[in-house]
Amino acid sequence: MSHIPVMLDYVIEHLAPSAGDVIVDGTFGGGGYSRRILESADCVVFGIDRDPDAKGRAEPLGSDFGDRFTLLNGPFSEMEALVAEEGKSSVSAVVLDLGVSSFQLDEAGRGFSFMREGPLDMRMSQDGISAADLVNHADEKDLADIIFQLGEERDSRRIARQIVRERADSSFETTLQLADTVERAVGGRRGKRTHPATKTFQALRMFVNDELGELAGGLMAAERLLGEDGRLVVVTFHSIEDRMVKSFLADRSGKQEGGSRFMPEQVASGPAPSFENVRRVTAPDVAEVAANARARSSRLRSAVRTSAPAWTDEFEIPVNLPSLSEVL
Ligand SMILES: C[S@@+](CC[C@H](N)C(=O)[O-])C[C@H]1O[C@@H](n2cnc3c(N)ncnc32)[C@H](O)[C@@H]1O
Repeated sequence: MSHIPVMLDYVIEHLAPSAGDVIVDGTFGGGGYSRRILESADCVVFGIDRDPDAKGRAEPLGSDFGDRFTLLNGPFSEMEALVAEEGKSSVSAVVLDLGVSSFQLDEAGRGFSFMREGPLDMRMSQDGISAADLVNHADEKDLADIIFQLGEERDSRRIARQIVRERADSSFETTLQLADTVERAVGGRRGKRTHPATKTFQALRMFVNDELGELAGGLMAAERLLGEDGRLVVVTFHSIEDRMVKSFLADRSGKQEGGSRFMPEQVASGPAPSFENVRRVTAPDVAEVAANARARSSRLRSAVRTSAPAWTDEFEIPVNLPSLSEVL
């Protein structure tokens, strides 16, 4: 199945492409956003994806839009270096649409899905430490923390204990092997509509791909790369990610998150705001959710870059977990 772009009309409205713009689509995927951006205005688009398979999906855009479109392979946290290689040091807009595409989920060999038998892989870049490495070697406590914090899974300890018990007999190689173990750990499906392994798979995928680290790095890179009046648009599917984007934009626009509901917007002291005009779309349209279940949990936040310098302080990730290399 192909990937249905989420909140596409809102993305275009907030991104506001116009002739002469240089726009970074930091999560190219199937190119749904890139194509619509290129159709909306006579602009240039750099599509970034860390998945080498994106190359094949980018070919039609090359034929349809010629040198107005270029695909760059790498993580979006490195967008400045990637576009610098193309001779650009400033851009008009950046869009990020987080997570994995339907292409990746549907391909059993990538190991993202608990519904398809495949190697327990989950690496977007097809490189580095896999989910199997993590599940077979991490400490029980680290596994439980990852599953609890990134999956928001209340049964994380039981799941981690079951994984460690079962891997002593034979190591985890496949997706369904892990899905069955999680199901056993929580005592079966217990009438639930969602598969009991949903949150565990999400947590492992986010950890293996350092998705929160990438988001923090991507937001700061976009802040540095966007010129004055540049638009930043971020679509998230996970509450931790949405909170990160919200607090990044609240910080950078000089609005502290309200300590009191009677004073919801306090103006912060500190560097001059690097963003203004912060907006959000908190839910997709009903018709979109009916047509695309994946859209259900989507949230969009956007802001416009001011002329102030990018802030130099690091933007902290709100969960406290060791890094991938530390747990192995
Ligand atoms: C949800 S899909 C994007 C779909 C796209 N908007 C479309 O309309 O077809 C996310 C894509 O971004 C890529 N991706 C996720 N995190 C990334 C990162 N940190 N750096 C680069 N690419 C990333 C994934 O490999 C995937 O192809």
